[in-house]
Amino acid sequence: MQTRREQYLEALGIDRWVARAAVVPAAAAPAVAAASPSARPAPAADPAAAADTAARWEALRQEVQGCTKCPLHLTRTQGVFGVGPTRCDWLVIGEAPGAEEDRRGEPFVGAAGQLLDAMLRAIGLDRATNVYIANVLKSRPPGNRDPKPEEVAACLPYLERQIGLLKPKIMLAVGRIAAQNLLGTDVPLGRLRGRVHRFGDTPLVVTYHPAYLLRTPADKRKAWEDLKFARSVYQQMTQGQPTDGHRA
Ligand code: URA
Repeated sequence: MQTRREQYLEALGIDRWVARAAVVPAAAAPAVAAASPSARPAPAADPAAAADTAARWEALRQEVQGCTKCPLHLTRTQGVFGVGPTRCDWLVIGEAPGAEEDRRGEPFVGAAGQLLDAMLRAIGLDRATNVYIANVLKSRPPGNRDPKPEEVAACLPYLERQIGLLKPKIMLAVGRIAAQNLLGTDVPLGRLRGRVHRFGDTPLVVTYHPAYLLRTPADKRKAWEDLKFARSVYQQMTQGQPTDGHRA
């Protein structure tokens, strides 16, 4: 019988990788840190601090909804703030909302989002329990054009504040636009892969955008390598600690 992980990998189009993985030594293929669907983050030790953090998240969310710092507010349906638990170790960052995200107010809910969810599930991550997902831009650029530098400059402080509240242990940038803007570089995505970068103090790993992978399925294998790499970086960082992606 297929395991759940194998089903996700098959959904990614990398089912043949599974067969070869059977001969990879355990040390080279660390076990998937499976998230228990019923698992929940431990309650904060200090309820007053937890309430303060919750209030900050809400204030930030409202600020994003009311933001008029760039002209994108004139064409968006709504700001797309982010999704996921506000206490977790993983943060995935994309480029900007598309049409479906603009309509529904949640990042990565279109076709690319379904692939992203499958990719994340293959390494034990789920937006409902242990990974937060946000974009560099909170407003949709018309026609899904690339973000302009001044739009990124206006919007990035919101992401930085999200990062300050979440304090993720690891960040995964999906796609060239997210990676280059977060790292302040124009180095091509292919050369940013396979290394641990930093955004502030936080380790950051780079992979392909799921929309690109839908157009270029042959590169799904490389994306799977990136995901395994990110997972091993995370597992090394959390050795001896729970590694289900929840904040202990
Ligand atoms: N692409 C992105 O980069 N982000 C989304 O939220 C949707 C598509």
